[in-house]
Amino acid sequence: MRAVTWQGKRDISVETVDDPIRHKANDAIIEVTSTAICGSDLHLYEVLGPFMDRGDIIGHEAMGRVVEAGPESGLSVDDRVVVPFPISCGHCWMCEQGLQTQCETTQVRQYGSGAQLFGYSRLYGSVPGGQAEYLRVPYADVGPLRVGTELPDHRYLFLSDILPTAWQAVKYAGIGEGDSLGVYGLGPVGQFAARIGRHLGAKVFALDPVPERRDMAARHGVEVFDFDEDAHAAIRDATSGRGPDAVVDAVGMEAHGSPLASAAQQAAGLLPPPAARKIMETSGIDRTAVLHAAIDLVRRGGTLSLSGVYGGALSPMPLLTLFDKQIQLRMGQCNVLSWTDDLLPLVESPEDPLGVDDLVTHRLPLDSAPEAYAMFQQKLDGCIKVVLDPSAK
Ligand SMILES: NC(=O)c1ccc[n+]([C@@H]2O[C@H](COP(=O)([O-])OP(=O)(O)OC[C@H]3O[C@@H](n4cnc5c(N)ncnc54)[C@H](O)[C@@H]3O)[C@@H](O)[C@H]2O)c1
Ligand SMILES: [Zn+2]
Ligand SMILES: [Zn+2]
Repeated sequence: MRAVTWQGKRDISVETVDDPIRHKANDAIIEVTSTAICGSDLHLYEVLGPFMDRGDIIGHEAMGRVVEAGPESGLSVDDRVVVPFPISCGHCWMCEQGLQTQCETTQVRQYGSGAQLFGYSRLYGSVPGGQAEYLRVPYADVGPLRVGTELPDHRYLFLSDILPTAWQAVKYAGIGEGDSLGVYGLGPVGQFAARIGRHLGAKVFALDPVPERRDMAARHGVEVFDFDEDAHAAIRDATSGRGPDAVVDAVGMEAHGSPLASAAQQAAGLLPPPAARKIMETSGIDRTAVLHAAIDLVRRGGTLSLSGVYGGALSPMPLLTLFDKQIQLRMGQCNVLSWTDDLLPLVESPEDPLGVDDLVTHRLPLDSAPEAYAMFQQKLDGCIKVVLDPSAK
């Protein structure tokens, strides 16, 4: 089959590799009909390079048709399914708490990481990912979500990751009717977080340096701002001088505006892998510009909800300010399965309340992945969300 593979820093190629085979009775094999590129894939593209191996199949946002169903998978051939990006057993103590990303059966203990994730480096189990013609789904009795056949793929695809991620971010932010929410970053996750905030009745203020991303959010009732010095003052003015009740950080470690960290990450990307891994683990070389800005923006006693991914073990957190402002902090990978019951009716609704029809800017053949990654990372050609179609030539 054809698959998108990691070859080195900023080097992605589409290769012919062996088809996946079923190992266990609860495995399934899926023929992928749509698979998206995520902001998290950009971390693999550069920053997390030291944890990748040449030839790794990447991608963790996939849906498709079941072509092989293990006898204990609970699925049947031809089922149409969306595959959540975390891999969880469904039975352990963590899974029972709804914390599938901490699953005690699939945790990657060698690296001290949580549950295995599709296509997401050695840190998360080196599981072959979904940017491919076929995908092996372990624990298919737990993860895949069976969906109807009437609506197009893009209505369902984002249940694999970014929709529940944004939903979890807003739920963790704890806002509702009449509250105010700040959203840092208007990539796909920030777009949905902002719209979910609106859907739940909050006033939403969002910041992003990219004009077409601000325009998209403005179409959904969000007040938008460039990332500049005046934005915080304007948002405070609109929130009785206090700042929003909660702020979602939907940027993470690809933030613009942290030059020192960026140089250190560049250096890590150039060192031989074991040395680079050591630097990533011990020096806390994150890009924390947005984290600091979000701490500044949120009102005293408010909540900060991080959905952007951060790496590095020793990141300097401004504890004085966090403590003094009495900020509540929540974060983590998304426990996708905990939110799908809330989201499925919304994506299937004819009114499309979260605007799922207004997100994808590019649908391209799988073989275009190298150009698509570069375009998404550099935000060229108005690119906001790319879906790859393995059946298109
Ligand atoms: N927690 C989870 O389970 C989970 C799941 C999916 C994605 N994520 C993370 O969410 C983040 C966003 O993902 P995405 O797919 O939307 O990616 P993205 O890279 O498209 O979005 C990031 C956005 O932040 C903006 N940005 C950069 N610097 C900024 C700054 N200083 N101020 C304001 N905006 C700034 C960029 O212009 C971009 O629009 C990533 O870190 C990704 O890894 C987390
Ligand atoms: Zn993702
Ligand atoms: Zn489990």
